[in-house]
Amino acid sequence: MNRFKVFVTRKILEEGLNMLKERYDVEVSDYDGVIPREMLLEKVKGVDALVSLLTDNIDAEVMDAAGPNLKIIANYAVGYNNIDVEEATKRGIMVTNTPGVLTETTADFAWTLLMAIARRVVEADRFVREGKFRGWEPMLLIGTDVHGATLGIVGFGRIGQAMARRALGFNMRVLYYDNARVDEQIEKELKATFVDLPTLLKESDFVTLHVPLTKETHHLIGEKELKMMKKDAYLINTARGPVVDEKALVKALKEGWIKGAALDVFENEPEVEPELLKLDNVVLAPHIASASYATRSKMSVMVAENVIKALSGEVPPNLVNP
Ligand code: DGY
Repeated sequence: MNRFKVFVTRKILEEGLNMLKERYDVEVSDYDGVIPREMLLEKVKGVDALVSLLTDNIDAEVMDAAGPNLKIIANYAVGYNNIDVEEATKRGIMVTNTPGVLTETTADFAWTLLMAIARRVVEADRFVREGKFRGWEPMLLIGTDVHGATLGIVGFGRIGQAMARRALGFNMRVLYYDNARVDEQIEKELKATFVDLPTLLKESDFVTLHVPLTKETHHLIGEKELKMMKKDAYLINTARGPVVDEKALVKALKEGWIKGAALDVFENEPEVEPELLKLDNVVLAPHIASASYATRSKMSVMVAENVIKALSGEVPPNLVNP
């Protein structure tokens, strides 16, 4: 019997991978890194399902290379800006993502970054390792209080709301901005106030970004917005790099328009703006907000469930095509 062919662009955790291997002919890229374009175009030929990562640009050329058997592109991420969904929809190809399972883990990490930049944890670590600790000092590495501060959440979906829940424990004032207001009940529970973006930027001590990358959110935070922020405020980005104009951010950090930033994502990953590397008032991480074992495992199962449903002729649970 002919088995469906599935190509996975990079090794993911076994739990989901095994579900696919039990049922289909599965090839997993063994290339050590982001699969090179030429290799991707070769490997997708004739596949029924493609499991992609956010580092893979899945456009018309890839869909052409795959050919008419391709039924589903299952992205191993909640964000799917790396896939030309419009093109896939035109061709009747289903596109899925992994929402929900990474919400709390991503919010945990955004919170980690917020705390780290506010309390200068990375600087402190460097200080100790460099042998500079001479005992308690009244003026050493003085940071900013998180408790009682104002948190501005840009994008109030699952992850944005998870940030608001964390802020409750820190007795923070929470402002949020999104395309639309959430239910009054949610606002009440999370003690969150809907404001426009300028108000949020002007009043927040911490601005944290949780929007998907779209044409509308590209460079949502640029020079004008950074200049609206308080001089002693911090920017946290665990969403997508291009939501922030990185060149403008470097200027803001160097010239003191804001106090600091903590970034898990970059405009041109894996490249990091070299100027950022020189600055002490920034904490940098390599896009790991969802990287807990439990969450990555759940993501792999979710990807497999999406593929299995689609290849059984059913609608997968996490379809994103309009
Ligand atoms: C996502 O899922 O979109 C994150 O950026 C990586 O897990």
